[in-house]
Amino acid sequence: MAAPLRLHSGEYPGLRAEQRRLERAVAGRYRVIEAVSRGGMATVWRAFEPGIERQVALKLLSPSLCGDDEHRGRFRREARILGALAHPNIVPVLGFGELDGACWFAMPFLAGGTLESRLAELRLDPESARRILIQLADGLAFAHAQGVVHRDIKAENVAFDASGRPVLTDFGIATLATSDHSRSEITKGSGTAHYMAPEQLLGSPEADGRVDLYALGVLGFRMLTGRFPFEGNADQVSARRLTNDAPPVAAFAAGVPAALAAAVDRCLARRPADRWGGAAELRDALLARTAAGPLKQAGAALRRLLGRPSRAAALLMF
Ligand SMILES: Nc1ncnc2c1ncn2[C@@H]1O[C@H](COP(=O)(O)OP(=O)(O)O)[C@@H](O)[C@H]1O
Ligand SMILES: [Mg+2]
Repeated sequence: MAAPLRLHSGEYPGLRAEQRRLERAVAGRYRVIEAVSRGGMATVWRAFEPGIERQVALKLLSPSLCGDDEHRGRFRREARILGALAHPNIVPVLGFGELDGACWFAMPFLAGGTLESRLAELRLDPESARRILIQLADGLAFAHAQGVVHRDIKAENVAFDASGRPVLTDFGIATLATSDHSRSEITKGSGTAHYMAPEQLLGSPEADGRVDLYALGVLGFRMLTGRFPFEGNADQVSARRLTNDAPPVAAFAAGVPAALAAAVDRCLARRPADRWGGAAELRDALLARTAAGPLKQAGAALRRLLGRPSRAAALLMF
């Protein structure tokens, strides 16, 4: 299983100072071990919780941004969104704090590494890709039902727990359908070019949960073919996706079951209305179409019995 990215303190000036600041902020609660990732806004640390004897991940907002109301507000909002989304495929938040210029929140440590690091090492077989997509679609269906759009689905923001379960992380630019006044401002230019739906790229105020379906389609395409639907630098892929349809999965991968390839292709439709009606619809299609007859019926019976597709999905898969 892929190990999480490791950083060395020499790589980033200021990392030691950040660590000391975080150590002070979480003293008595967590023992900070090492930085595992550093992005523009935050550093993620591996830490240990002595009482429970478990590893945790601590996300620390860059100290220079912690004093800024807007960034601090967004960071708080990320923690609150995670706090509101209790789902097996969405990382939970275990604690939160702001002390002396250190804004942090704690999550369970996802020891299986990111989907990005896994894709760098190996090409996934179609069945593994299908299982991952089903679980991520289930997590997204739940988030969307709570009014949360992730907006930055990509391989770096999916990580695996120790049992191999894929988990959505990084709700840093997620939007809330209801109470978000900063929505249009967040909408503009946020996200990651290779995964961004055309309407998100254009900053359209109508961009909704279907941008996550598009990005999930990009992920599916990568898992199945080993490449992005549009390759090149950020400007090139952005321009091409506005004028061209994505190529079908079958153009780059033989041997993918037709229904699975078609499910991913449909996520990548340029017009949101041509994609799946929602993440739940995608999940159910992935569950039903590729399952054998009796399994398909069992799935439908289970869904009726439990009244919750997500549990039926979990039961069918393991
Ligand atoms: N709970 C976690 N367990 C292990 N690693 C994590 C966890 N959360 C994040 N990471 C690692 O840290 C990286 C950055 O975290 P993320 O929340 O995506 O922050 P950023 O806003 O900097 O992208 C992820 O790509 C992943 O490698
Ligand atoms: Mg991220």
